[in-house]
Amino acid sequence: MNVDLKEQLKQHSGLAAIYDEALADIAAAAAEVELGAARVRHLGRKSRLSRLLRAIPEMPASERPLAGKLGNQVRAALEEELVVRWQALESAELEKRLEQERVDITLPGEPLAGGRMHLITQTLWEIEDIFTGLGYRIAEGPEVETDYYNFTALNTPEGHPARSLHDTFFIKGKEGVLLRTHTSPVQVRVMEKEDPPVYVIIPGRVYRRDSDATHTPMFHQVEGLAVDEHITMADLKGTLESFAKAMFGAERQVRLRPHFFPFTEPSVEVDVSCMICGGKGCRSCKHSGWLEILGAGLVDPNVFGFVNYNPDEISGFAFGMGVERIAMLKHGVTDLRMFYDNDLRFIKQF
Ligand code: DAH
Repeated sequence: MNVDLKEQLKQHSGLAAIYDEALADIAAAAAEVELGAARVRHLGRKSRLSRLLRAIPEMPASERPLAGKLGNQVRAALEEELVVRWQALESAELEKRLEQERVDITLPGEPLAGGRMHLITQTLWEIEDIFTGLGYRIAEGPEVETDYYNFTALNTPEGHPARSLHDTFFIKGKEGVLLRTHTSPVQVRVMEKEDPPVYVIIPGRVYRRDSDATHTPMFHQVEGLAVDEHITMADLKGTLESFAKAMFGAERQVRLRPHFFPFTEPSVEVDVSCMICGGKGCRSCKHSGWLEILGAGLVDPNVFGFVNYNPDEISGFAFGMGVERIAMLKHGVTDLRMFYDNDLRFIKQF
């Protein structure tokens, strides 16, 4: 309140009443809307003050100077008072909100659901760890591949059943382009680029036109390739035995059974002694005591021919395993499709 003005207003009772009333209303406003209403009421076009100021020209000349001077001073003083009150209300409002919306920083936070690695990724990493521990490097290649790398250079000539439309996804309108059916083509890509010795494993996705409890159109493989001087079947067996023991337990044994693959000669299928019954025979191993885990063999000299390696100077072994199959055996998963159903009740178990 303006004390000076108060004193002067003793000379004009009309303006004094207007001023006092307006001050009281402004002071009583408890929120910004009420303050806005007080402003309209006391300073708006239809307010008593505005009407009084507009009427000055019609007043007797003797009254005009005082009414004009004091009227304008009252208006200025009220405008000022409104701003002061408005600021006070604003900070009170803020105080109130800070009080009401106070955050207790000592409360525990909202728990975040912890994600985890998919079992296939875990298994892939485990396989990679075991082989990098044996001195292997990891190599990768394209999933969209040419039939040259997927078949021809792997000693699988035209007319081979694996090349049939029934087994392989071909890319429409692209002659000789397909989704790789195995990781073996990367063997050829690595050997084209590097001279022996070569020790690599090749993890990745592969695709086949297959779908049932033990086959999905996409699955994962890890390929292995070792090329050096004097590599023999004994090296292959020792390497795979180390792998089987690291993966399935120190008591595991491996056995090789003769088989055929176009890109290895001789070729074998590799079994590991059953980790469920310890080799005595049970339902899981069909009472044989053995479970098949991968295909392998000594690299066929014809494959070396495609990459200009001299089979008289070097030899090598290769193997390829299905990651899903390894994970199923290790964890007792009975249906391959569970890996890709994305059912958290399954995924969270590992
Ligand atoms: N590529 C074969 C398959 O997908 C698996 C395989 C067998 C890979 C023997 C090899 C191997 O490297 O030597 O069925």
